[in-house]
Formats: sequence, C-alpha cells, structure tokens
Amino acid sequence: SGVLCGCTVLALTACAGHQQSVVDPAGTQASHIANLWWFFFAVLGAIFLAVMALTLWSLTRRHRGIEQEPLESKHKPSKATESRLTRIVAGATIGTVLILFVLLISSISTGKSISELGDKQHGLIIEATGNQWWWRFRYMNDDSNEILVTANEIHIPVGRPVMIRGMSQDVIHSFWVPNLNGKRDLIPSRITEEWIEADRAGAYRGQCAEYCGLQHAHMVFWVIAEAPDKFKQWFDAQLQPAFAPADADKLHGRQVFMNNACIFCHTIRGTTAAAQNGPDLTHFGSRRSIAAGTLPNTPGNLGGWIVDPQSIKPGNHMATIALNSSDLQPLIDYLESLK
Ligand code: CUA
Repeated sequence: SGVLCGCTVLALTACAGHQQSVVDPAGTQASHIANLWWFFFAVLGAIFLAVMALTLWSLTRRHRGIEQEPLESKHKPSKATESRLTRIVAGATIGTVLILFVLLISSISTGKSISELGDKQHGLIIEATGNQWWWRFRYMNDDSNEILVTANEIHIPVGRPVMIRGMSQDVIHSFWVPNLNGKRDLIPSRITEEWIEADRAGAYRGQCAEYCGLQHAHMVFWVIAEAPDKFKQWFDAQLQPAFAPADADKLHGRQVFMNNACIFCHTIRGTTAAAQNGPDLTHFGSRRSIAAGTLPNTPGNLGGWIVDPQSIKPGNHMATIALNSSDLQPLIDYLESLK
C-alpha cells in the first residue's frame, strides 16, 4: 500500500489519546507523512471552499440573468462571451492538471525521502510475521542466543532505527503503526521491509491494515518505545526463560497447562512447551493485552478467553478447553505470573 490512503482519515478518529493517529507523529517517517497529509488537506480544502464559493456566486448570477435577458438570447451567447468562457474553462483545466501534478510530485518525494531513512549498520531488525489473527515478532541477532521471540507487543529503543522485516504465515496482512510510519504489506513467501524510528517514548497502537479474514479487526499489536537503557532491561528480561512457579497454586497451574491442549500450540521457554502454532507465552504476564489487542490483560479476561475463546473472537484458532474451576484459577495465576 502507498503512503496515501483514505483509511488514514479513519485513523484520525480511531483512538483516543493519540495512541493511533497519523497526525500525531512520533517518528521521522511518520512526520513526513503527516506533513504530506496537512499539505493535501490545505490544498484540497482551499479548492473545496473555492468551488463552493463559485457555485453560490453563479447561482445568484443566473437568477439575475433570467430576469434581465429575453429567453432566446440566453441560448446564443455573444462572440465575446463565448471566447471569454472558453478561456476560463481552458484556464481551469490547466490549473487542475497543474495542481494534480503538484500533489503527485509531493507524494512521490515524500515516499522517496522516507525510503532513504533507516540504517542497516546500526538498526535493530525485527521479523514480523502475520498470522490469522495475531503477530509473531522475532528480534534478529547474529548470536542465536540473543534472538528473542514474542507476540503481539514489541518494545523499541527511542532514537534507533528499527527494520521491520515483514512476512506472512497464511494470507496477506499489513503492518501499520500510524504514529511511526505508513503501511507495509506482509505477503506469504516474500519478505518486505519497512523502517520505523520513534523520536519520543510512548505506547503506539498498531493494526493489521489489509483485510485478512473474519478477525481482521482484532489483529492489533502494541509498539512500546522507551529509552535505550529501559529497552535493554526489558530485552534482557524477555530473553530469560519463564519464571519457575514459586508456590503450589502456580505449580498446579503449570501442570494444567502441560496436561491440556495448550501445549500443542504454545511455547513457554524453560518448560517442555515448545510448539510454534500460537503466540509464545514465555513472558505473557508482561503484556498489556490478550488475543492480539482484543482485551486488556487481566485475570478475569484471561479466564474468559481460556474458557470460551470463540465467543470473544469467533473463528480464531484457539481450542476451547473444558476446565473445572479448581484447574482454571491456578492456570490463570500461573500465566499471569509469567512477567
Ligand atoms: Cu491480518 Cu488483517
């Protein structure tokens, strides 16, 4: 998808607090897009006002004409009137073409200056894989011990370029964080690249921007931009295997996880759960949302999600697991303790 899209208008009103907004840029790339947006808004707004003003003016003129001129002469404009009208129409046509060219050139030059940003030498590389309907993120590193896998939430250091290397597990998705950059399609068996760079700390909401099936609207992720030392702290903590449960309740919860279908889809590093079909849950408790941004991450929501995922997000691939309450509560306690 290009820089320009009618959907950007939706993003203006999509979320309170500017956590998802193209006109509240938090990065270099997004600033270019916001400037382009305001330029288009100004030019097209001025044209709209001019057209409305001319329409009103012509309505009053026409009324006067009918009163003053006999009917037959109205249909035969004089030579002078005709050549004047021809000049006006020709001028308006040339003006329209020129304005379209100005818009085209400013759009192309914005795209060009965005594509020149990024820094392959010092940039961070994050692989983003679209899945129906969640996000797998992998922080790449030459040292395989430093590769971090997480889901639906990434942290990035402020002031450092980050390359999003996009791919898809199934259908075409689109990676979009309006506060940071435009959209980039994630295409099966192809790799696409997009650079983002946050120039201030904050939590920015990202969204799949390509219709990808029933739960497309519930394919959300968060980008948390923070100071480099804070990011380093987060990264090092996330690299650690999951905390071993400290009490009988959570030990029981871990056992419930391992004895049920959970283990067929999820990984919890440091345990025997190592499946790759669903989100990595090693540090699940540290994330702000569950079900790819569908619900805030609270014990109550997690319980509802485990017991009946299909009523919360119909069509998703999470299995419904029948648990009695003496197993459910320990499982919730265990998962929420995975900070
Ligand atoms: Cu993934 Cu829409």
